[in-house]
Amino acid sequence: MNKALRKAVIAGNWKMNKTRPEAKELVEAIKPLVAGAGCEVVACVPFTNLETVLEAVKGSNVKVGAENCHFEKSGAFTGEISADMLAEMGVEYVIIGHSERRQYFGETDETVNKRTRAALAAGLKVILCVGEMLADRENGITDELVAMQTKIALKGVTAEELKNVIIAYEPVWAIGTGKTATAEQANEVCAVIRATLAKLYGKEAADATTIQYGGSMNAKNAAELVAQPDVDGGLIGGASLKAPDFAAIVEAATKG
Ligand code: PGA
Repeated sequence: MNKALRKAVIAGNWKMNKTRPEAKELVEAIKPLVAGAGCEVVACVPFTNLETVLEAVKGSNVKVGAENCHFEKSGAFTGEISADMLAEMGVEYVIIGHSERRQYFGETDETVNKRTRAALAAGLKVILCVGEMLADRENGITDELVAMQTKIALKGVTAEELKNVIIAYEPVWAIGTGKTATAEQANEVCAVIRATLAKLYGKEAADATTIQYGGSMNAKNAAELVAQPDVDGGLIGGASLKAPDFAAIVEAATKG
Protein backbone atom coordinates (compact mmCIF):
# COMPACT_ATOMS: atom_id res chain seq x y z
CA MET A 1 0.00 0.00 0.00
CA ASN A 2 1.31 3.44 -0.95
CA LYS A 3 0.78 4.73 2.57
CA ALA A 4 3.66 2.53 3.69
CA LEU A 5 5.99 4.59 1.50
CA ARG A 6 5.75 7.64 3.71
CA LYS A 7 5.94 8.49 7.36
CA ALA A 8 3.01 10.09 9.10
CA VAL A 9 3.86 13.44 10.66
CA ILE A 10 1.97 14.97 13.56
CA ALA A 11 2.90 18.62 13.95
CA GLY A 12 1.65 20.96 16.62
CA ASN A 13 1.05 24.55 15.58
CA TRP A 14 1.15 26.53 18.79
CA LYS A 15 0.30 29.80 16.99
CA MET A 16 0.66 32.90 19.22
CA ASN A 17 0.52 31.02 22.50
CA LYS A 18 2.88 30.30 25.42
CA THR A 19 5.53 32.33 27.16
CA ARG A 20 8.94 30.68 27.56
CA PRO A 21 8.22 29.05 30.95
CA GLU A 22 4.86 27.84 29.64
CA ALA A 23 6.50 26.50 26.49
CA LYS A 24 9.03 24.57 28.54
CA GLU A 25 6.30 23.12 30.71
CA LEU A 26 4.25 22.02 27.70
CA VAL A 27 7.11 20.41 25.80
CA GLU A 28 8.36 18.65 28.94
CA ALA A 29 4.87 17.21 29.38
CA ILE A 30 4.69 16.13 25.73
CA LYS A 31 8.12 14.41 25.58
CA PRO A 32 7.50 11.31 27.72
CA LEU A 33 4.00 10.84 26.28
CA VAL A 34 5.27 10.60 22.70
CA ALA A 35 8.59 8.84 23.33
CA GLY A 36 7.38 5.63 21.68
CA ALA A 37 5.78 7.31 18.67
CA GLY A 38 5.81 5.49 15.36
CA CYS A 39 5.34 8.76 13.50
CA GLU A 40 7.35 11.97 13.27
CA VAL A 41 6.45 14.43 16.05
CA VAL A 42 7.01 18.15 15.54
CA ALA A 43 6.28 21.19 17.70
CA CYS A 44 6.01 24.43 15.68
CA VAL A 45 6.35 27.24 18.18
CA PRO A 46 6.55 31.05 18.29
CA PHE A 47 9.98 32.50 17.44
CA THR A 48 10.53 33.57 21.05
CA ASN A 49 10.14 29.96 22.21
CA LEU A 50 12.46 28.33 19.70
CA GLU A 51 15.61 28.38 21.81
CA THR A 52 13.80 27.14 24.92
CA VAL A 53 12.07 24.32 23.08
CA LEU A 54 15.18 23.31 21.09
CA GLU A 55 17.04 22.95 24.38
CA ALA A 56 14.20 21.03 26.01
CA VAL A 57 13.81 18.45 23.21
CA LYS A 58 17.51 17.47 23.14
CA GLY A 59 17.79 13.68 23.31
CA SER A 60 14.09 13.18 22.55
CA ASN A 61 12.20 12.33 19.37
CA VAL A 62 10.40 15.69 19.24
CA LYS A 63 11.44 17.93 16.33
CA VAL A 64 11.12 21.70 16.33
CA GLY A 65 9.60 24.02 13.77
CA ALA A 66 8.88 27.72 13.32
CA GLU A 67 5.57 29.13 12.13
CA ASN A 68 6.79 31.35 9.29
CA CYS A 69 9.94 32.78 7.73
CA HIS A 70 10.77 35.58 5.32
CA PHE A 71 11.91 34.97 1.76
CA GLU A 72 14.91 37.30 1.66
CA LYS A 73 18.21 36.17 3.15
CA SER A 74 18.74 39.38 5.12
CA GLY A 75 18.18 43.11 4.89
CA ALA A 76 15.79 45.91 5.74
CA PHE A 77 12.71 43.88 6.66
CA THR A 78 11.88 45.09 10.14
CA GLY A 79 10.24 42.45 12.28
CA GLU A 80 10.98 39.55 9.95
CA ILE A 81 13.03 36.36 10.48
CA SER A 82 14.99 34.67 7.69
CA ALA A 83 15.16 30.97 6.92
CA ASP A 84 18.93 31.03 7.54
CA MET A 85 18.38 32.44 11.03
CA LEU A 86 16.11 29.49 11.81
CA ALA A 87 18.43 26.89 10.27
CA GLU A 88 21.41 28.24 12.18
CA MET A 89 19.53 27.73 15.46
CA GLY A 90 18.91 24.07 14.67
CA VAL A 91 15.26 24.49 13.72
CA GLU A 92 14.24 21.69 11.35
CA TYR A 93 10.76 22.60 10.13
CA VAL A 94 8.84 25.73 9.17
CA ILE A 95 5.15 26.21 8.45
CA ILE A 96 4.60 28.25 5.29
CA GLY A 97 1.37 29.74 3.96
CA HIS A 98 -0.86 29.08 6.94
CA SER A 99 -4.36 30.41 6.26
CA GLU A 100 -4.06 32.84 9.16
CA ARG A 101 -1.07 34.41 7.41
CA ARG A 102 -2.96 34.46 4.12
CA GLN A 103 -6.05 36.01 5.79
CA TYR A 104 -4.50 38.51 8.21
CA PHE A 105 -1.00 39.24 6.88
CA GLY A 106 -1.43 39.60 3.14
CA GLU A 107 0.22 36.31 2.24
CA THR A 108 -0.41 35.36 -1.40
CA ASP A 109 0.33 32.25 -3.44
CA GLU A 110 3.33 34.12 -4.84
CA THR A 111 4.82 35.01 -1.44
CA VAL A 112 4.11 31.48 -0.25
CA ASN A 113 6.17 30.25 -3.19
CA LYS A 114 9.02 32.65 -2.38
CA ARG A 115 9.05 31.65 1.30
CA THR A 116 8.91 27.95 0.40
CA ARG A 117 11.91 28.26 -1.88
CA ALA A 118 13.88 30.30 0.63
CA ALA A 119 13.18 27.79 3.40
CA LEU A 120 14.19 24.83 1.22
CA ALA A 121 17.35 26.63 0.11
CA ALA A 122 18.26 27.09 3.78
CA GLY A 123 17.85 23.35 4.35
CA LEU A 124 14.58 23.57 6.30
CA LYS A 125 11.68 21.16 5.89
CA VAL A 126 8.53 22.97 4.86
CA ILE A 127 4.99 22.31 6.05
CA LEU A 128 3.15 23.99 3.21
CA CYS A 129 -0.48 24.87 3.97
CA VAL A 130 -3.24 24.94 1.39
CA GLY A 131 -7.01 24.95 1.78
CA GLU A 132 -10.28 26.47 0.68
CA MET A 133 -12.58 28.99 2.33
CA LEU A 134 -16.20 28.01 3.00
CA ALA A 135 -17.38 30.05 0.00
CA ASP A 136 -14.98 28.16 -2.27
CA ARG A 137 -16.39 24.85 -1.08
CA GLU A 138 -19.94 26.08 -1.55
CA ASN A 139 -19.05 27.25 -5.06
CA GLY A 140 -17.68 23.80 -5.86
CA ILE A 141 -14.15 25.00 -6.61
CA THR A 142 -12.27 23.31 -3.75
CA ASP A 143 -10.34 20.88 -5.95
CA GLU A 144 -9.30 23.51 -8.49
CA LEU A 145 -8.33 26.03 -5.83
CA VAL A 146 -6.25 23.63 -3.77
CA ALA A 147 -4.54 22.30 -6.91
CA MET A 148 -3.75 25.87 -7.95
CA GLN A 149 -2.38 26.80 -4.49
CA THR A 150 -0.19 23.69 -4.54
CA LYS A 151 1.07 24.32 -8.05
CA ILE A 152 1.99 27.97 -7.47
CA ALA A 153 3.58 27.28 -4.07
CA LEU A 154 5.86 24.68 -5.65
CA LYS A 155 6.89 26.69 -8.72
CA GLY A 156 10.66 26.28 -9.10
CA VAL A 157 10.87 23.58 -6.38
CA THR A 158 12.88 20.61 -7.69
CA ALA A 159 11.95 16.94 -7.25
CA GLU A 160 14.90 16.60 -4.90
CA GLU A 161 13.66 19.54 -2.80
CA LEU A 162 10.13 18.11 -2.74
CA LYS A 163 11.47 15.39 -0.41
CA ASN A 164 11.66 18.14 2.23
CA VAL A 165 8.08 19.31 1.68
CA ILE A 166 5.03 18.20 3.62
CA ILE A 167 1.69 19.50 2.43
CA ALA A 168 -0.97 20.33 5.02
CA TYR A 169 -4.51 20.42 3.69
CA GLU A 170 -6.38 22.76 5.99
CA PRO A 171 -9.91 23.79 4.99
CA VAL A 172 -10.15 27.31 6.39
CA TRP A 173 -13.71 26.75 7.63
CA ALA A 174 -12.45 23.93 9.85
CA ILE A 175 -9.62 25.81 11.56
CA GLY A 176 -10.29 26.62 15.19
CA THR A 177 -14.02 26.29 14.61
CA GLY A 178 -14.62 22.81 15.99
CA LYS A 179 -15.97 21.89 12.53
CA THR A 180 -13.80 19.09 11.17
CA ALA A 181 -13.94 17.98 7.58
CA THR A 182 -15.34 14.48 7.44
CA ALA A 183 -12.71 11.81 6.97
CA GLU A 184 -14.00 11.33 3.41
CA GLN A 185 -13.78 15.07 2.61
CA ALA A 186 -10.26 15.24 4.02
CA ASN A 187 -9.15 12.19 2.07
CA GLU A 188 -10.74 13.41 -1.15
CA VAL A 189 -8.84 16.70 -1.14
CA CYS A 190 -5.57 15.10 0.01
CA ALA A 191 -5.95 12.78 -2.99
CA VAL A 192 -6.45 15.81 -5.27
CA ILE A 193 -3.21 17.28 -3.90
CA ARG A 194 -1.41 13.98 -4.50
CA ALA A 195 -2.72 13.85 -8.07
CA THR A 196 -1.46 17.41 -8.57
CA LEU A 197 1.98 16.37 -7.29
CA ALA A 198 1.93 13.36 -9.61
CA LYS A 199 1.35 15.66 -12.58
CA LEU A 200 4.21 17.91 -11.50
CA TYR A 201 6.76 15.38 -10.26
CA GLY A 202 5.54 11.90 -11.27
CA LYS A 203 3.66 9.24 -9.33
CA GLU A 204 6.59 7.95 -7.34
CA ALA A 205 7.41 11.36 -5.89
CA ALA A 206 3.71 12.02 -5.19
CA ASP A 207 3.37 8.69 -3.39
CA ALA A 208 6.39 9.51 -1.24
CA THR A 209 5.08 12.93 -0.12
CA THR A 210 3.46 13.30 3.29
CA ILE A 211 0.09 15.06 3.07
CA GLN A 212 -1.47 16.05 6.39
CA TYR A 213 -4.96 17.13 7.31
CA GLY A 214 -5.46 20.09 9.65
CA GLY A 215 -8.52 21.81 11.08
CA SER A 216 -10.04 20.98 14.47
CA MET A 217 -8.27 17.63 14.58
CA ASN A 218 -8.44 16.34 18.13
CA ALA A 219 -7.97 13.29 20.34
CA LYS A 220 -11.43 12.00 19.40
CA ASN A 221 -11.50 12.41 15.62
CA ALA A 222 -7.81 11.85 14.80
CA ALA A 223 -7.95 8.06 14.41
CA GLU A 224 -10.59 8.17 11.69
CA LEU A 225 -8.82 10.96 9.82
CA VAL A 226 -5.32 9.47 9.85
CA ALA A 227 -6.67 6.05 8.85
CA GLN A 228 -7.65 7.49 5.44
CA PRO A 229 -5.43 6.24 2.61
CA ASP A 230 -4.25 9.70 1.53
CA VAL A 231 -4.03 11.38 4.95
CA ASP A 232 -0.56 11.07 6.48
CA GLY A 233 -0.93 12.72 9.84
CA GLY A 234 -2.03 16.16 10.89
CA LEU A 235 -1.27 19.78 11.65
CA ILE A 236 -2.79 20.41 15.03
CA GLY A 237 -3.65 23.82 16.48
CA GLY A 238 -5.79 23.96 19.62
CA ALA A 239 -5.29 20.33 20.65
CA SER A 240 -1.49 20.68 20.44
CA LEU A 241 -1.58 22.96 23.48
CA LYS A 242 -2.76 20.09 25.72
CA ALA A 243 -0.10 17.41 26.15
CA PRO A 244 -2.48 14.45 26.66
CA ASP A 245 -4.62 15.42 23.66
CA PHE A 246 -1.58 15.91 21.44
CA ALA A 247 -0.17 12.57 22.61
CA ALA A 248 -3.46 10.83 21.83
CA ILE A 249 -3.28 12.16 18.26
CA VAL A 250 0.31 10.95 17.97
CA GLU A 251 -0.83 7.53 19.16
CA ALA A 252 -3.63 7.48 16.57
CA ALA A 253 -1.11 8.28 13.83
CA THR A 254 1.25 5.59 15.13
CA LYS A 255 -1.52 3.04 14.68
CA GLY A 256 -2.29 4.63 11.30
P1 PGA B 1 -6.95 23.91 14.87
O1 PGA B 1 -5.82 24.63 13.99
O2 PGA B 1 -6.49 22.50 15.10
O3 PGA B 1 -7.04 24.72 16.12
O4 PGA B 1 -8.21 23.96 14.05
C1 PGA B 1 -5.15 23.95 12.96
C2 PGA B 1 -4.18 24.88 12.31
O5 PGA B 1 -4.48 26.07 12.16
O6 PGA B 1 -3.07 24.47 11.90
